[in-house]
Amino acid sequence: MADKSKILLIGGTGYIGKFIVEASIKEGHPTFVLVRESTLSLSSPAKSIVINNFNNLGVNFLIGDLLDHESLVKAIKQVDVVISSIAHDQVDNQVNIIAAIKESGNIKRFIPSEFTNDVDRAHIVEPATGLAASKAKIRRAIGAEGIPYTHVWHLILSLVSFFQL
Ligand SMILES: NC(=O)c1ccc[n+]([C@@H]2O[C@H](COP(=O)([O-])OP(=O)(O)OC[C@H]3O[C@@H](n4cnc5c(N)ncnc54)[C@H](OP(=O)(O)O)[C@@H]3O)[C@@H](O)[C@H]2O)c1
Repeated sequence: MADKSKILLIGGTGYIGKFIVEASIKEGHPTFVLVRESTLSLSSPAKSIVINNFNNLGVNFLIGDLLDHESLVKAIKQVDVVISSIAHDQVDNQVNIIAAIKESGNIKRFIPSEFTNDVDRAHIVEPATGLAASKAKIRRAIGAEGIPYTHVWHLILSLVSFFQL
């Protein structure tokens, strides 16, 4: 496992994130999840299932918050790759992750929260235009800072948008 990149998930307890966490563990990556203390301590039954599953899989929890710069830097300094799967209403706040990655200076790759269609190419209609614009803005911010990145989007959703099916 020594040669495997260490992966940090921000939003790993969410709907999309939990699948990425499981896949990361399955591929043998040391896997870390940034989680708010309140989520661990006040867990709803649904979140408890996710957290217990992560514990059983050997996930490392790092207490932090997307809105707390110091906690982001501390978590990011411990890994090689950052994957964000934060919710649609937090997409703009990923500028905080970008700032923390810049300060940390050790990240080989950042995968921002997308997982929809290719926001630079798809023909996007309401009510999704605002979210797509936010995701595109984050792409530009990552590029401007020279951070290595991968954009993960959904081919079928993109084709549907492209052909306006
Ligand atoms: N859900 C879908 O059907 C779907 C479909 C296509 C694309 N997408 C895209 O996939 C991405 C993820 O969406 P999702 O639906 O999986 O989101 P979600 O289920 O709402 O999960 C959001 C995650 O962000 C975490 N989070 C929220 N605020 C935080 C903060 N201040 N600090 C740290 N963590 C915080 C949540 O933690 P807690 O567990 O503590 O709340 C949770 O882990 C989005 O870009 C969305 O547009 C989603």
